[in-house]
Amino acid sequence: MARLIDGKAVAAELREGLKARCAGLAARGITPGLAVILVGDDLASRIYVRNKERACASVGIHTRTFRFPAETEMGALKAQIDALNADDSFDGILLQLPLPQGLCADELLERIAPEKDVDGFHPLNFGKLALGLGGKTPCTPAGCMELLRRAGVEIAGKEAVVIGRSRLVGKPTALLLQAADATVTLCHSHTRDLAAHTRRADILIAAAGKAGLVTGEMIKPGAAVIDVGINRMPDGTLCGDVEFSSAEPVAGAITPVPGGVGPMTIAMLLKATIDAAEERRG
Ligand code: GUN
Repeated sequence: MARLIDGKAVAAELREGLKARCAGLAARGITPGLAVILVGDDLASRIYVRNKERACASVGIHTRTFRFPAETEMGALKAQIDALNADDSFDGILLQLPLPQGLCADELLERIAPEKDVDGFHPLNFGKLALGLGGKTPCTPAGCMELLRRAGVEIAGKEAVVIGRSRLVGKPTALLLQAADATVTLCHSHTRDLAAHTRRADILIAAAGKAGLVTGEMIKPGAAVIDVGINRMPDGTLCGDVEFSSAEPVAGAITPVPGGVGPMTIAMLLKATIDAAEERRG
């Protein structure tokens, strides 16, 4: 029986610490600010953004969402980013992804001032991460690492397997695990014999976006399993990339979905915004 890694509880604990940091800044007359840019009306994005707004309010971060219709042109979004870069009341700028078709995320992400890039998606921050030079870390990967640390999982010298090579999760998580001295294998949709890789993993990160992709027989007994997947099933329930019922008896520690990585992503975004406020305002 695996130990359950309770992301909801860890995130709540982190928020308490962040509230205290916000109060410290407030005493100096500083309110950290996060600007969110939301384009189009994707339902999942609207839910994410609403949750971010609520979480910001709960710790004392000022937040404002700039909403644009799906048919907005690049020029208008660039102008909005330029205005937010210059606006001193915002320490962080988050461009909610995915964008509607026809818009170029790369061009817009590159336009965000690197010091306000709380998502860590700017090429400068991503490059620093790849080179081990610090910089801002994407929130979901940072949340995965924090969960491993809090669960007391040893990383140095261990075999880590990451499934999925996305810019949001897979790639940066592999880099963070490597920086923490794990031996990392990055698997993806073209990987042959996925199970042969996953069975060697002391640490398994599932971030493919495929419900139930990882089953119990693909897991090394005692492994730490972090499930990043959030898949909505036809009946409306949420389900991870890991088949929990077969994985849980084999793994040593495992995150549930929901209540695992999800709450951590938002907690790490709050942390990144407060970090940015402290860095920018001395
Ligand atoms: N869409 C889904 N997750 C994220 C995230 O962490 N950041 C941004 N900007 N968009 C997302």
